[in-house]
Amino acid sequence: MIRDRAAGRELTEDELIAAYAVEDRSVPRLRANFVTSLDGAVTVKGLSGGLSSKDDQNMLGRLRMLADVVLVGAGTLRAEGYGGLRLGSKRRAWRVEHGLPENPTLAAVSARLDLPADSPVFAEAPTRAIVITCAASPADQRAALAEVADVLVCGEDAVDLTAAVGALVERGLTQILCEGGPHLLGSLTDADLVDELCLTVSPLLAGPGARRITDGLASTEARPLPLLHILSTDEGFLFLRHGRPSHGTTPPAPAREAGRAAPLDPAGEEGADVSAAAAGEVGGAAFPAPVGEVGADVSAAAAGEVGGAAFPAPVGEVGGAAFPAPAGEVGGAAFPAPAGEVGGAAFPAPAGEAGGAASAAPAGEVGGGVSRAPEGGVD
Ligand SMILES: NC(=O)c1ccc[n+]([C@@H]2O[C@H](COP(=O)([O-])OP(=O)(O)OC[C@H]3O[C@@H](n4cnc5c(N)ncnc54)[C@H](OP(=O)(O)O)[C@@H]3O)[C@@H](O)[C@H]2O)c1
Repeated sequence: MIRDRAAGRELTEDELIAAYAVEDRSVPRLRANFVTSLDGAVTVKGLSGGLSSKDDQNMLGRLRMLADVVLVGAGTLRAEGYGGLRLGSKRRAWRVEHGLPENPTLAAVSARLDLPADSPVFAEAPTRAIVITCAASPADQRAALAEVADVLVCGEDAVDLTAAVGALVERGLTQILCEGGPHLLGSLTDADLVDELCLTVSPLLAGPGARRITDGLASTEARPLPLLHILSTDEGFLFLRHGRPSHGTTPPAPAREAGRAAPLDPAGEEGADVSAAAAGEVGGAAFPAPVGEVGADVSAAAAGEVGGAAFPAPVGEVGGAAFPAPAGEVGGAAFPAPAGEVGGAAFPAPAGEAGGAASAAPAGEVGGGVSRAPEGGVD
């Protein structure tokens, strides 16, 4: 049961769909969806399922239903054991009613192409999957995968995600749902391609060890992402929707090149946009009354908090006071972080890329963890 706390009542499925639907599907939008613990962990025992719940899985199904394409990094595909991306019957029926194909397309991002062509994610895909890679990927693997998926070469030595998003949009796949993982989100953030983050906060302290929802280049600029709404469940899960406007402003050059229209507003203007968001005007996103009632919260929360400023202040930077901020998290300095986790994107990802999860292990058996949505099994 998902509630709009401001309205003080449970939302119906139609209201929940409306809370995440966009008004104009022709406007490209990249939405990311993650689940995190209260203390910022992206996994429990190597996988995301330990952070999830029935409502969270339903949310994932809802977001998939609204997407044209589900974008997933190879690390997540390998760790979480994705199968063919098939929605449940109600969600498929909804899509057909709304003029969409029964299922969204899955697009996997990989430079090394260590993805078996006979894996269920391709073999059992109801819609032919897409593999996004770069020219430097192994030609034989590319040829093998081209038998089971459409292979898009975007970039020379590394996958150029701006080009990749542009290529998806060119195919009419404008509504992009990124399901992770952290390295992919990190690269998308670095390229300023993330328009929206739907974040489930799980009422759980996972303890140390796990990674955050983002990983990779420590030099990535911080990107403001205004609050659009907060929903919650009686069990204490929060569903945060953060996003930026995508209408009425001129996109920055990289987004224009990619055929997108999702600019980041200049510093100082975010606050105004956020207030507009509260009234249901951000990005043309359908933001119906019950959810719109969170608007007051949004305005209050956003004022002075977004506007180009960092919030909360990074560790060690509060008032210039120094307390032992871990180097490497602030200012980009290096501290003895686990190899490949901080201070530089590790692509190809090292073995054990899933926080100790062995990528070859079958879903549900990695470090005792469980998958959030194995085999496309969410509805
Ligand atoms: N809590 C959640 O919501 C959630 C969601 C998703 C995943 N996860 C967890 O996150 C872990 C996996 O995440 P991850 O960070 O290791 O993997 P990831 O972000 O899913 O995938 C990273 C991989 O994508 C490929 N890639 C190619 N070009 C890239 C580029 N430009 N930028 C980024 N990636 C690129 C590389 O694969 P190649 O080596 O094939 O080139 C790279 O190793 C798993 O433990 C999973 O359970 C949690």
